Amino acid sequence: MCGIVAYIGPRDAAPILLEGLARLEYRGYDSAGIAVAAKGSAGLKVRKQKGRVADLAASVPARFKGGTGIGHTRWATHGEPSDANSHPHLDGAERFAVVHNGIIENADELRAKLQSEGVVFRSETDTEVLAHLVAAHAVDGAELEDAVRAALKRVVGTYGIAVLDAERPDRIVVARNGSPIVLGIGEKEMFAASDVAALVRYTRQVVHLDDGELATVRADGFSTFTQDARITAKEPSTVDWEEAEYDTAGHAHFLIKEITEQPAAVERTLSGRIDERFATAHLGGLNMDAREARAFRRVKILGCGSAYYAGEMGAQLVEELARIPAHAEPASEFRYRNPVIEADTLYIAVSQSGETYDTLAAVQEVKRKGGRVLGVVNTVGSAIARECDGGVYLHAGPEISVASTKAFVSTVVAFALIALHLGRVHDLSPADGARIAAGLKALPGQIREVLEQEKEIAALAAKYARHEGMMFVGRVRGWPVAREGAQKLKEISYVHAEAYPASELKHGPLALISPELPTVAIVPDDELLEKNLTTMGEIRARRGQVLMVGHTRPEAKFTEDVILVPRNEPELDPILLTVPLQLLAYHAAVALERDVDKPRNLAKSVTVE
Ligand code: G6P
Repeated sequence: MCGIVAYIGPRDAAPILLEGLARLEYRGYDSAGIAVAAKGSAGLKVRKQKGRVADLAASVPARFKGGTGIGHTRWATHGEPSDANSHPHLDGAERFAVVHNGIIENADELRAKLQSEGVVFRSETDTEVLAHLVAAHAVDGAELEDAVRAALKRVVGTYGIAVLDAERPDRIVVARNGSPIVLGIGEKEMFAASDVAALVRYTRQVVHLDDGELATVRADGFSTFTQDARITAKEPSTVDWEEAEYDTAGHAHFLIKEITEQPAAVERTLSGRIDERFATAHLGGLNMDAREARAFRRVKILGCGSAYYAGEMGAQLVEELARIPAHAEPASEFRYRNPVIEADTLYIAVSQSGETYDTLAAVQEVKRKGGRVLGVVNTVGSAIARECDGGVYLHAGPEISVASTKAFVSTVVAFALIALHLGRVHDLSPADGARIAAGLKALPGQIREVLEQEKEIAALAAKYARHEGMMFVGRVRGWPVAREGAQKLKEISYVHAEAYPASELKHGPLALISPELPTVAIVPDDELLEKNLTTMGEIRARRGQVLMVGHTRPEAKFTEDVILVPRNEPELDPILLTVPLQLLAYHAAVALERDVDKPRNLAKSVTVE
């Protein structure tokens, strides 16, 4: 979603804000802007426009001086991307500047009220309301933080905000409610941002604000308080992600860098979690003893986008290894259908960012009804991680490209660990436990083997990317692989891709098959191999082309386009079958000259409904 960055200190703010915004651009990228204030000089300097951060940086004049500033990169929700709708937004007197992530739900009502009082609006955004509200409350010598508190009391909705006051450049006020704000502590300088990505170049000491909290940030420190002006105590924590992880490190795109990082990411997800002695997984963060783990009769997995598809693979693993009925559902649907929450169901929320609003809302709905929720989350200390009763951190490292790859694979590996653990408190034998543990340990090396085929996969991608659409089919274990493969292709290459269970093809979509619509068939060498070959035969009989991803080369009559992946244990094979589909989507997007890391209309963390 949108990104916020703020700086206060002895240096010029503008270059630091622009650098921070570039780091946040993966979150939203249709427009960007900055505002700075300097001691002793009247007025704010503001530059904002439609387009990328690089365009903004090019248009900021050299004399854009001031040691206090705020910046924003936007992903439009209220009003189209335009110069006027870009943040920061100002009040009528241009004394206050506000940047905002989230949605003000009563913006229309507040706008009408302010207009009736004579306020003139310059944009269509909900954020501009905040700038005018702060100005309206900055009367009778009120401090900036008091004006912001009073303004926020009138607001319904979600926000992470940073507010700059031309008359008080010794401070920035930030606030959080449903959209993250983190403070960065430097040497005689302070930072604030919506995401640590913007800060790691300057400091590793951070403070996460809680919902309902505000902070006054000065060059020499900060204070935090609630909406009712009660002071809160905060302990700084140290970010363990390296600055280098936020660079493409010589790769053409973050996406291919992150695909390539998967062996190391999986090693970190597994690190210290396999218990050889008892052929199980050791997951301290679950906060659950064996008796409690045994008591669950069902598992329900919730996530959005790729996190949901990873959850589908997770459900499959839990059912296979623990023989507990398990099901994944999009969190965005679940939260709105008044779900039945059962005491003997274990709920598991999946999120790379830990911020996806629909997933967070689903977690809150489960908790409100007394259910127990675990999180499978990448970002330590994120909103979803904090809301859950326990869980598993992926430790996959930061994922910057909008399309999820290494977090996807690490999530499925985390589910394999959860399933192994649940299996071993149920009826999974020590021998089967040891078999899965060995399979997990083999994964990093086997993923490397798949990555070595990049050149051949790129050639296939160039061949198939010419088509307007592609079908992806798989059965049972291969079905979520097909879904994620189709998702990856459509989100970054814009080639229409539809996933179907191979078993359902003949019940409808077979009508679409023609030489113009090729099919990617996921065909592991398992008990369904023959059935999958029959499906491929049906496609070939309709003159459809087939690209097969599997373990064995079929007779030439089925297809000659085959990507072979190493065999692991059947339960873990979906992980390896997914990797070539990531490379296929990546190279299709490159062949079509798409903006791989920043696909149109999408954002990395969707922190609004
Ligand atoms: C967005 C992204 C997807 C991602 C989904 C869930 O839609 O574009 O790539 O899978 O959010 O994100 P999360 O951070 O919750 O895993």
